[in-house]
Amino acid sequence: MIRRSGKTIAFVPTMGFLHEGHLSLMREGRNRCDDVVISIFVNPTQFGPGEDLESYPRSFERDCELAEKQGVNAIFAPNEKELYGKNFQTYVKLEDLPNHLCGISRPVHFRGVATVVTKLFNIVKPHFAIFGQKDYQQVAVIRQMVKDLNFDIEIVGHPTVRETDGLAMSSRNSYLTPDQRVSALSLYASLKKAQTLLENGITDAAEIIRAASELITSHPGTAIDYITICDPETLADMETISKPALMALAVKVGKTRVIDNMILDIP
Ligand code: PAJ
Repeated sequence: MIRRSGKTIAFVPTMGFLHEGHLSLMREGRNRCDDVVISIFVNPTQFGPGEDLESYPRSFERDCELAEKQGVNAIFAPNEKELYGKNFQTYVKLEDLPNHLCGISRPVHFRGVATVVTKLFNIVKPHFAIFGQKDYQQVAVIRQMVKDLNFDIEIVGHPTVRETDGLAMSSRNSYLTPDQRVSALSLYASLKKAQTLLENGITDAAEIIRAASELITSHPGTAIDYITICDPETLADMETISKPALMALAVKVGKTRVIDNMILDIP
């Protein structure tokens, strides 16, 4: 209806438990378009066995209030049966991008993301869709999918919103105890250290990764899933940093998986 009336629509898909990171995407949408539509749906197909689907934090009423305050025009909050009916069998699966970074330890994750985002795009029919760079690989997957499948939608990547102490905002931060939260700060600290090392002339990716990994494991309760320095487009590993590179990492802090990333700039 909104689209037929000639207005432009920005779309922000979310899994709810909204924080300032999500809200800044909504404001970005508001700046770009007449109307902003968000979705709130904890998508089961992007969670693997043993992941936190059941315990994923939810706060629907509060989310609606927060979204309304940002001037969101519509909230799409389907239930599982509405999106995945009986005998559901069609998935969207990318060939290469999911074989890197988070896709290695979360093998079904990006198939679930690409599938649900396709469905949401087809239902909402937005002109723009806003995603956070905090989930760098997710934006890369969506951009590639939009290109490959000819979606008439412009994908916008929005910078990571951080707490004042540097921790990247995430709905999953609510799982962290105060001590674990301190340990989780080591992710951003390690990214900043990597940038400093590069500025001091160290271009060997393995050496930077070693330093980052030492910094992180010096904090209690941390277990590194991966630390990678790679090409920002293909996500293929880089050995020597001779052009801007993506440094991305995932660390278990207690039972919580925390991710972060940064583009390392050549000085
Ligand atoms: P969710 O984790 O709820 O995130 C929704 C959007 O908010 C994503 O685009 C994510 O990158 C962005 N976001 C989260 N934390 C952010 C931060 N600190 N700064 C900036 N943006 C941030 O990502 C998902 O949901 C799902 O995979 C979804 C795309 C909705 C598909 O189910």
